[in-house]
Amino acid sequence: MSDPILRLEKVSKSYDRGNSTLQVLKTVDFEVYPGEAVCILGASGAGKSTLLHILGTLDRPTEGRVLFNETDMAKESDERLARFRNKEVGFVFQFHHLLSEFSALENVMLPVRFAGQSEAQAREQALELLQLLGVADRKDHFPSELSGGEQQRVAVARALVQRPKILLADEPTGNLDTKNSEQIQELFFQFRLKFGITLIVVTHDVNFASRFPRRMVLKDGHWN
Ligand SMILES: Nc1ncnc2c1ncn2[C@@H]1O[C@H](COP(=O)(O)OP(=O)(O)O)[C@@H](O)[C@H]1O
Ligand SMILES: [Mg+2]
Repeated sequence: MSDPILRLEKVSKSYDRGNSTLQVLKTVDFEVYPGEAVCILGASGAGKSTLLHILGTLDRPTEGRVLFNETDMAKESDERLARFRNKEVGFVFQFHHLLSEFSALENVMLPVRFAGQSEAQAREQALELLQLLGVADRKDHFPSELSGGEQQRVAVARALVQRPKILLADEPTGNLDTKNSEQIQELFFQFRLKFGITLIVVTHDVNFASRFPRRMVLKDGHWN
């Protein structure tokens, strides 16, 4: 078997609250293998978002190690982590977080431009992704001119435009109706099949959760 693509080793996260400490994650171990699809479940406040942020290096653990392909991410500078995220990790959240002053196409071009690629290259990659997500005909629309389902497809296009190895999604269908939710779910699994992307998804949707071969439940900061 190959090495894990992502590995958490005794990860703890706590927040200092003046005279008390809030322990959000408690010595969590987690191994995710390339191409796996893992769903993370748990009640509100269980620490799911915190865990996902730490997995994606958006946040650092208080204790423990985060390894990507066995490289310890704690030792990397913020600048290197930003480059790592740009290249290797796609994020999708419950709300689309598209930039309102940019068109759909421009939003999807941003990660490619951030990586230093030309405008033409960014345009080509972004168009390809918008096509794969079925929203190419909306490319010149601003986020406010898109439906909720379209906004989330554009956000997924932006997450995937750099062809990351890992897709981290935090309740990605939480804000969608059943039909749009199912379409987004379908797209996630299609991308996994087509490109071998590793999926780590937090969801409350039992239907979505049931499609994952591996489900993990977080309770009070550790695996249940
Ligand atoms: N920046 C922060 N400062 C203090 N407490 C936080 C912070 N972020 C999250 N928390 C707390 O950590 C706990 C877990 O939050 P979160 O990871 O968002 O849970 P979930 O996503 O499972 O609902 C909650 O009690 C929340 O209030
Ligand atoms: Mg959350």
